[in-house]
Amino acid sequence: MARLSGKVALITGASKGIGEGVARVFAKEGAKVVIADVDVATAKKVASSIGSGALAVECDVSNAGHANQAVAAAVEKFGKIDILVNDAGIYPFKNFLDQDFGDPAWNKAMAVNVEGVRNCTLAAAKQMKKQGKGGKIITISSIAAVKGYSGLVHYCTTKAAVLGFTRALALELAPLKINVNAVCPGLIDTPGVHALGMSNEVVNQTAKTIPLQRPGKPEDIAWACVYLASDESSFVTGQAIIVDGGDTVK
Ligand SMILES: NC(=O)c1ccc[n+]([C@@H]2O[C@H](COP(=O)([O-])OP(=O)(O)OC[C@H]3O[C@@H](n4cnc5c(N)ncnc54)[C@H](O)[C@@H]3O)[C@@H](O)[C@H]2O)c1
Repeated sequence: MARLSGKVALITGASKGIGEGVARVFAKEGAKVVIADVDVATAKKVASSIGSGALAVECDVSNAGHANQAVAAAVEKFGKIDILVNDAGIYPFKNFLDQDFGDPAWNKAMAVNVEGVRNCTLAAAKQMKKQGKGGKIITISSIAAVKGYSGLVHYCTTKAAVLGFTRALALELAPLKINVNAVCPGLIDTPGVHALGMSNEVVNQTAKTIPLQRPGKPEDIAWACVYLASDESSFVTGQAIIVDGGDTVK
């Protein structure tokens, strides 16, 4: 029996990488998926390859109007929204001392990784409240929320903020039976990681420092999200699941 059968899931940043993996696994588990991404051309290709009526929506999560429109599009097509996965995120390297006040690296990371999560969650949670049947909100944080990375002060700050957001919101939404949880990936082999200039060789070399001796795959994160999106996790809220091949416990 598919674990998300009858559910409608909106996944941000689902044109590529972890978000795409989540969308594909959710669809296999029976969910109707809405792929919300700033790269709408790729979102459309992913939606049509998933089939089952998957919907692609243009959405820059840092734009509150877009977030509202993405939720409205999901409701218009499928009649409701049960699950939100806040995956869209950016992680450009820039040393702290090379930044200035108002630096675009800092501001964009905050806008996408923090305000983007706030925007999409606010839009989706208001809709879930209106529906009156609970819901599941998942944030994709990172092990960078609990571990420092040089050159990524701005990124680590945003991902720690996402954990604070997750915990506090879990308390506010608990009376509505809306569960709010985070997944913290370790190194996952995605286009975003390669866009940083990490070749396959560098990814595999880095993976040798991971106890399970491999880089993660988007599906590794998707299965944690399936658990948090399913009825199986109905007594879990305000938590963060680390999926990192053992990197943070070594
Ligand atoms: N890959 C990793 O090793 C890793 C580790 C920990 C956490 N994460 C987190 O996982 C998430 C996905 O990372 P990834 O590696 O799959 O990235 P990716 O770059 O491969 O894919 C990111 C997707 O998000 C979209 N996106 C970017 N900015 C957006 C915006 N403003 N609005 C909507 N969509 C936007 C992109 O178009 C792309 O489809 C991010 O939040 C990232 O911080 C990744």
